[in-house]
Parts: sequence; C-alpha cells; structure tokens
Amino acid sequence: MRKLFIAILLAAVTLGSVCRPVSAQTMSKDEKRRLILKGAKLWPVYCNQCHNPRPPGEKAPYEWDQEIMHMRMLGNMPADNARALVEYLKAR
Ligand code: HEC
Repeated sequence: MRKLFIAILLAAVTLGSVCRPVSAQTMSKDEKRRLILKGAKLWPVYCNQCHNPRPPGEKAPYEWDQEIMHMRMLGNMPADNARALVEYLKAR
C-alpha cells in the first residue's frame, strides 16, 4: 500500500513538471534576455510579411500569447521563434 502511494506521488510530481505550460516554466534572466533580443530581430522580419509590424504597445502583455499563437498558425512559425517574439512583445 505504501509503495503504491509513493508510486502515485512520483507519477504526479513527474507529470506536473512535464505538463506545465511553457509560459509558467521558470526562466533564468539570461534566457529571458536572449529571447527578447532574438524576438527584437525577428519582429520586423516576420510581422512585416503580411501587415505593418504591430508594435508591442498595441496589446496588453497577456494578450500577446494568444495573438502570437494565431499569427504562428498563419505564418507557419517554428515554436522557438514564436516564443522569442512573445517575450519581446511582452517586454516593451
Ligand atoms: C502569414 C501572415 C501573417 C504574419 C506573418 C503575421 N500576421 Fe498578424 N495578421 C495576419 C492577418 C491575415 C490578420 C488579420 C486577420 C486575422 O486576425 O486573422 C492579422 C492580424 C494581426 C493583429 C490584429 C488582431 C486583432 O486583434 O485584430 C495583430 C495584433 C497581429 N496580426 C500581430 C502580428 C505580429 C506581432 C506578427 C509577427 C509575429 C504577425 N502579426 C505576423 C497575418 C499575419
């Protein structure tokens, strides 16, 4: 019984850390800075393809997750580029 309890506890802890959404994962300051710089370079490249590049201040930070998910689907963006763009747009 005790082993079963420990196994369930371990499974819950493992699943909890694997299934967290990307934005909830802790990120070091260096990693965040790297993403923001990458996003700043990608912003005029990607966003200018279809319309004027929408400035970071156009949306509240919490709105950019959804906005970039939508643009990512339209533009067929790789995940790491979309993540960098979100960090850049939220940083303003
Ligand atoms: C593949 C083309 C394409 C790319 C690349 C693209 N967009 Fe868009 N975007 C659209 C289209 C089409 C619309 C308007 C229709 C819609 O919302 O689906 C739009 C609408 C928007 C809107 C307005 C949505 C609203 O709330 O009315 C924002 C903000 C936006 N884009 C931001 C961006 C940003 C930031 C980028 C760069 C990461 C980007 N887009 C890249 C095609 C694109």
